[in-house]
Amino acid sequence: MPNNLDPIWTRLDTLRPAEGRRISDLFDADPDRASGFRIAADGMVFDYSKTSIDAERRAALLELAADLPERRAAMFDGDRINETEDRAVLHTALRNPDRKLVVDGEEISADVSATLDRMAGFADAVRDGSFAGQGGRITDVVNIGIGGSDLGPAMATLALSPFHDGPRTHFVSNVDGADIAETLGGLDPATTLVIVASKTFTTIETMTNAETAMAWMKQSIREPSAQFAALCSAEDKTAEWGIDPSRVFGFADWVGGRYSMWGPIGLSLMIAIGPQHFRDFLRGAAAMDAHFRDAPLAENMPVLLALVGIWHHQICGYPTRAVLPYDNRLARLPAYLQQLEMESNGKRVAMDGTALTRPSGPVVWGEPGTNGQHAFYQLIHQGTQIVPCEFIAAARGHEPELDHHHRLLLANCLAQSEALMRGRDLDTARDLMRKKGLEGEELERQASHRVFPGNRPSTTLLIEQLTPYTLGQIVALYEHRVFVEGVILGINSFDQWGVELGKELALKVAPLLDGEDAPGHDASTLALARDILAMRG
Ligand code: F6P
Repeated sequence: MPNNLDPIWTRLDTLRPAEGRRISDLFDADPDRASGFRIAADGMVFDYSKTSIDAERRAALLELAADLPERRAAMFDGDRINETEDRAVLHTALRNPDRKLVVDGEEISADVSATLDRMAGFADAVRDGSFAGQGGRITDVVNIGIGGSDLGPAMATLALSPFHDGPRTHFVSNVDGADIAETLGGLDPATTLVIVASKTFTTIETMTNAETAMAWMKQSIREPSAQFAALCSAEDKTAEWGIDPSRVFGFADWVGGRYSMWGPIGLSLMIAIGPQHFRDFLRGAAAMDAHFRDAPLAENMPVLLALVGIWHHQICGYPTRAVLPYDNRLARLPAYLQQLEMESNGKRVAMDGTALTRPSGPVVWGEPGTNGQHAFYQLIHQGTQIVPCEFIAAARGHEPELDHHHRLLLANCLAQSEALMRGRDLDTARDLMRKKGLEGEELERQASHRVFPGNRPSTTLLIEQLTPYTLGQIVALYEHRVFVEGVILGINSFDQWGVELGKELALKVAPLLDGEDAPGHDASTLALARDILAMRG
C-alpha cells in the first residue's frame, strides 16, 4: 500500500466513531449537514449525510486520494496501469470515441467508432429484418457468455426493458446444462441468433454452451454458423467456428472483461434497445467520466462514493456492504457489482507484490427493495454486525398509471434509511408495550426485542428516472469508485488471477468423474468423486 498514506491511515483510525457517537447527532450539530454531505451533478444526487463522516473525517479521507489525480490521468491517457498483465485500461475510450488517443503508437478512436458503427449496422439489420434466420426475421437473441461477457449486458437489458423494442433477448452463462436447455427449449432455431460473447473464446463454460447451441441449430438449420455472431478478437478461433468475419466484433486487450459492455460485449443490449439508445447509454457513462476527471475531489461523486466505502470497510471494519436498488429493473445490479467490485478489488497483495496491511474490498451483496425488506433487513436493523447500505432510487418510474406504487416504493426507500439511522430506543419500545397492556418483567422482555439500535449508515443515490443515459452514469460511477478504492489501497483493480486456480483444477478433476485415475488430489475430493460416480450409477 502506498507508504506516503501511512500517517493518514493512522489518523483515520483514531477518528473511528467512538461508542455513543450517533449519526443523528451530526444533524443536530450541523443544520446544513443535509446539503453539505451530498453531491448533485448532472441530474443525480448522491447523499452521504447518513454516515458518521463529518467535516474532519471527510478532510482526512480526502488526503488518502493524494495520488489519485496522477493515477486517474494515467488511466484516461492509456498508460499500462494494469501492470500484472502489462495492459492499458481504456474502457472509457469506448464511450468517448471523439477523444483522440494514441495507444502503442496507434490512434484508437477511429477504430472504436468504426466498431460501434459496425455493431449498429448489424443491430439495425437484425432489428429491421434485413438480417434474417432460415425461418425469417430474428425473434430471439441468445447471448452466451459468462462473467463480464454476461453480467453487464444481462443487467442492462433488464434495467432498460422499457426501451426494449428489438427481438427477445436471453442470456445463458452457467455450464449447468439446465441453463441452456431451459433457454433453447422455448425457441425456434430458424429465427434465433446466437451471440457467443467471449474475449478469449476459450472460457470452458461459454464454449461448452456454444457447442450445445450449435448442435441444437444443426438439427434443423442448413447453415447454422450463419446464425451465429461472435464478440471476440481471436479471429482465428471464430473462423474455426465458421462465423463470417462480418459478424465478428473484436475489441482490444485494453478492455477488461468486467468493463466491456460499452463495446462489442454490449451487442445483445444494442439489438434489444436499438443503437440510438445504446449511444445514450454511452453518453451517460461519458458524462460521468467527465465529472470524474474534472470535478474537484471533494465534489466528485466517484471519489466520495469510494471514500465512504473506505471509511466503512477499511476504517470502521464493517465486513460487507449492501447495494439496495429500489427499482425492480435493477435486480441484476448487485450481481453485476459483485463482479465489478469483488473481482477488481478482492486482492491480497499490493501492486508491488507485498502483502496488504489493510483489508481489500468488502463483500458486496444486495437485492431490490422492497423485497429485501421482507428477507434480510431484519439483520441489517437488529443484527450484531453493521451493514452499510447503498440505496438507489429513481424519482419517476416507467408506469405513470401505477404511480401510487412508485410513491410507496420511494417512501419505503426513504423510510429505511431513516429507520437505520434513527432506530428506536428502549423507552419508546417500553411505551409501545405499555400501550399493549403489558407490565413488569414481561413488558421489559418484550420491549427489548423491539429496540432498534439505529446509528447504522447508509447512502442514497437518486436519479430522475432509469434511462439508458442514467444507467450509463450509474455504472460508470461504480466503475470509477472501484478504481479510486484500488488506487488508495495500492492494488491492481484490473487483473483477476484469483479465478485461475479453480479453472485449472476443474480441468484436472474432470477425469475423476469419468472414472479415471488422476494424480495429486486430496482424499476428500477423491472420496466425493467416488460418491458422485456411485450416485450416477
Ligand atoms: O471470471 C474470470 C473472467 O476472466 C472474467 O474476468 C471475464 O469477464 C470472464 O472470465 C469471461 O471471460 P471471456 O470473455 O474471455 O470468456
